[in-house]
Amino acid sequence: MSEAKTLDVAAAYDVWASSYDGYDNPMVYAAGQALSQAPLALAQKTILEFGCGTGRNLEALAASGASNLIGFDFSSAMLAEARKRDGDWTLFQADMSEAIPLQDQSVDFILFSLTLEHVADLVPPLQEASRLLRSGGVIKIIEIHPFLSLNGVSAHFKTADGEEVTMPAFAHPFQDWLVAFDHADLRVTGLKEWQPRDFGTDAPAKILRRGLDWPWVVDWTLSPA
Ligand SMILES: C[S@@+](CC[C@H](N)C(=O)[O-])C[C@H]1O[C@@H](n2cnc3c(N)ncnc32)[C@H](O)[C@@H]1O
Repeated sequence: MSEAKTLDVAAAYDVWASSYDGYDNPMVYAAGQALSQAPLALAQKTILEFGCGTGRNLEALAASGASNLIGFDFSSAMLAEARKRDGDWTLFQADMSEAIPLQDQSVDFILFSLTLEHVADLVPPLQEASRLLRSGGVIKIIEIHPFLSLNGVSAHFKTADGEEVTMPAFAHPFQDWLVAFDHADLRVTGLKEWQPRDFGTDAPAKILRRGLDWPWVVDWTLSPA
């Protein structure tokens, strides 16, 4: 068996971008379910996704009535896929561990979905999210569950040639999250650990292979402290 190739994160997503949306990926399925079942009131709101990738979540949020959609990502190829979805969204290239070029308190709802496993230190992106959030705003974080990441599960894919590609990823146990929320002046208002039993009978086989109780994604809801 050939060895997996490891690329840095942005380079890996540049390669993955064109096939990402069609990939049979149980984590993407689980995160999508978590977002679609969230009780969000986004009509006329400004939405920002950190690490928006191909824009699949922005599309779902637009369908729920959000008026102003903003996303950024450090992979130019993932952003190019997002631009194909909607030319009216504000999309730009940036690294979430650095300062984000948006004004303080300018956003009503911020989403992180399957991106923070690639960030070693949760504090800088969460502090930026906290700075950007308007009073009364909400941050939603849907990420690989620590039980899986601590078991060695992380983002990876196969190219069209069958080559396995891996990239740097960091497991974040619950204590890391709670310490980072504290540093970013954020308060937890909701926590759900999504299990296959939450997804109904249509869940893909890959999701069911660990049984009905094994949590796939952790879903935090946060407000300014
Ligand atoms: C698994 S994809 C998720 C994309 C999208 N959020 C979704 O749920 O489909 C991870 C995305 O995070 C982006 N990403 C990872 N680390 C990042 C960073 N430090 N700054 C900006 N984007 C980052 C990657 O380029 C990739 O597009």
